[in-house]
Formats: sequence, C-alpha cells, structure tokens
Amino acid sequence: MGTGSDLGHDLVKKAWELLEDSIIYYGDRPVGTVAARDREVEALNYDQCFVRDFVSSALLFLISGRAEIVRNFLIETLALQSHDKQMDCFNAGQGLMPASFKVESWNGNQHIAADFGEHAIGRVTPVDSCLWWMILLRAYVKATGDIDLAHQPEFQRGIVLILKLCLADRFDMYPTLLVADGAFMIDRRMGVYGHPLEIQALFYAALRAARELLLPGRRGDIYIQVINQRLSVLNYHIREYYWLDLKRLNNIYRYKGEEFGIAAVNKFNIYPDSIPYWLTEWMPERGGYLAGNLGPAQMDFRFFSLGNLMAIICSLASVEECQSIIDLIEQRWHDLIGYMPMKICFPAVEGLEWKILTGCDPKNVPWSYHNGGNWPVLLWTLVAAAQKTGRTELGWKAIEIAERRLAEDEWPEYYDGRNGRLVGKASRKYQTWTVAGYLLAKELMANPDHMKLISFDEDPEMQELLGILSEYRCG
Ligand code: GLC
Repeated sequence: MGTGSDLGHDLVKKAWELLEDSIIYYGDRPVGTVAARDREVEALNYDQCFVRDFVSSALLFLISGRAEIVRNFLIETLALQSHDKQMDCFNAGQGLMPASFKVESWNGNQHIAADFGEHAIGRVTPVDSCLWWMILLRAYVKATGDIDLAHQPEFQRGIVLILKLCLADRFDMYPTLLVADGAFMIDRRMGVYGHPLEIQALFYAALRAARELLLPGRRGDIYIQVINQRLSVLNYHIREYYWLDLKRLNNIYRYKGEEFGIAAVNKFNIYPDSIPYWLTEWMPERGGYLAGNLGPAQMDFRFFSLGNLMAIICSLASVEECQSIIDLIEQRWHDLIGYMPMKICFPAVEGLEWKILTGCDPKNVPWSYHNGGNWPVLLWTLVAAAQKTGRTELGWKAIEIAERRLAEDEWPEYYDGRNGRLVGKASRKYQTWTVAGYLLAKELMANPDHMKLISFDEDPEMQELLGILSEYRCG
C-alpha cells in the first residue's frame, strides 16, 4: 500500500485519464464531456454533455492549457441557444440554454441534438444552464485573454438574450429570480420552486460576468446600468432576508405575524412555528448560512451546499457571512461532509413532508440522491470557498476524505446515508463531474491563482447602495 501522497499521485493520474476518455467529439473537434461512462446501466441521458456538469471539466481544461475545448463548447452551445425550443407547440424563451446535448450520426453525417427540458425526466426547465454558460465564458476570457470571442456579435447577442430572459419585467416584487421546481442541479421535484438560493447565487455571478463581457457602447452601457441596479438590490435582498444565524433565529422565534405596511419587521410573514425542530439544536453558536428559499410565509430552513458555497465564491455573501458559513461547515462537519464531501442539502425531508415535497419520488427518499445525498462534485466548490476565505486546512481535510473512497468506489455520482457512507443506490459509476471535481479541487489548492477564473471580489457598487438603503430605512 502506498503512502498518502503516492495515493494522491496515482489518483490524479487515473482521474486525468478518465477525464480524457470522457471527451465528446464533433467531427474531430472536442466539444464537451459526457456525464458518465458507466457501462453497467442503461445510459438514459448520461451519455450527453450537460452544461452544468461540464463546468468543472471546463475549468480544468482552462487550467491545463486546453482552452480550445471550452471555446468549442461555448460556440456550439451558443448555436443551440438559437434553435427551436418547443414543447407541445409552445416556444420557450429565446435566451434559454440547453440542459444537455449529444452528437448524433445520421446517414454518415453528424449533428448536435439538444435537450432544453423537453426530453428530460419531469420536463424540467434548465434555468441554471444560461447562468453557468455566462460564468464559463468569463472564465474562458480570464484564462486566455481572448475577449474578442466574447465581443463577437453572436456572443454579444447571446449574452443579451440571456439578460433579457433573466431581467424581463414579471409579476414580481422581489429582485430574486422566480423559477419552477427542479430548475438547477436538483432537477427533480424537491420543494425548491420559488426563489431558491442556488439560482440566486448563479444569477448574481452571471450578472457580474455579463458586466465584464458586454462590449462598451450604447447598448452595452444601457445593460451595464440595468445590471448594476439589479446586482445591488439582489445583493441587499439576499444578505438582509436570507441570512440565518442564532441571533436571526432568535428574532424569527419572537416574530409577530400579520404585520401590515412599510414598518413591518417580519416582512415575509414567517411564522415562528415554521422553524423546524432540528434547527434550534443544529444552529451552532458561531456560524450561520443563507436559507434555501424565501417567499410569502415561506422560509426554507434547509442548508443547500451549492447555493451557500457559490454565494461565497461570487461574493454574494458579505465577508463576515462567508466566514460564518465556513464556520458552520466546520462545526457541522459530520453532518455536511461525513464520509464524502459534500451533502447536497441538509437535512433530508422525511415522511409526509417527503410525500408532499417530492411527490413520493422513490429516487429522492430520505438521505439519498437530491434529498440529503453526498455529491463528490461539490468538493471543488467547497475547496474554492475554503480557499477564498483563507480556510485552506478545511480544503485539504475534505480532499483527504474524498481520496479514501473515490477510486475504490469507481467515482460514483453520489452517496447515500446520513453521513454518506453508502454508494448511492441508483448512482452512476465513472461520473465525469465526480472525477473533474476532485481534480479541480486539487488544482485550486495547489495554485490559488486559479481562483480568479471563478471568483468575484466584493462589489464596490454594493457598498454605496447599502449606505442609501440604511439611510432610507432609518429616515
Ligand atoms: C442528474 C443530476 C443533474 C446532473 C445530471 C447529469 O440529473 O440531478 O444535476 O446534471 O444528472 O449528471
């Protein structure tokens, strides 16, 4: 048996080979990576390239000097954006990006077939795809300096279509994006409809990316103004209303209901009785997190990892909040990391709540899959958040835990159980984002400079708005 570092070294080598084997070609051009290469189960759509799944692979390709794959991916997915996106004769919004695509051969000719949700289980709309696409385009520009690609007319058009789709006037009084259930990594019914945190964090990062990518000029400048305005109010809204720690919990516990008018403290009419029993015990003395969702008389108190980690990475959370989120992860390590970094959300919903929220989904039974399963892909976002907050010891610790199991278990998609000890019941093996997530985590630890591809600093515009809003509230 090798030493710890030998083990790490062998794993890295093996993982790069697996990543290489997952590349999809269109003609002789590499354009993406397949979701999984598990030969033992029916592929379903796991033989496709998912936009969200490709992000970790793409960042690795950028880091390792293979930017052309990412460039090809960006070009091909952009072309898909203008395809017909129809279900039962209904045309979906123009800016929508596919959940996934596949290269198909027909009479000796290849073409790319996309899925905008019209084939997906449950017909879920992939809201996160266009947001990830924008974040990835910015990463590509950061890595290569090739801003010309983003400035090409087709790219500017694609960016504007996404902005139009996200910033369109709707029946909304909140700056957060309103989405249906299963609009992101959790692409099944899980009670994550409304204003889920993960979408808000990706929305925020995508807007910040767009601001950097828009070509200066009349149209660009107008959009930049609109973006600035939205970024500030979105940031304010999330920090002000989604934040949870012991102090906030105490406030909510003593909230009065039915407050009317501008002076209401309990603006969303959250009833104290909706505080779940587990949370009063679970909330640490030090630390806090952003709630999973917020709406009228609705606060989803579950901890959602990707939303919280992305909020750190893109500075949607304040500097103090970022530290507090990492404090919470450290203090609740066994629950959130356990035997495999990291849990997708905590805790699982059970019993009647599981029936109501998931529609009795047998794949999302308590502590499995999206309902409290552990997803190795989240390792890279955990490591990035640890790196960003200067808590690198936690990053290394998480990597070390992942290394104990990943190769032996054949790189599963997810793990089951309260602490992630069992390989997920219906989990794919040789899942590409598991492999890429591990490699990317290692790269981000070894060379923190790579963080610039994905991270955003605190937005200076925000400070200004916070000042104005607090004056307004006091006045
Ligand atoms: C599952 C996951 C989704 C992922 C896809 C491909 O549907 O829920 O997040 O993108 O598999 O790996």
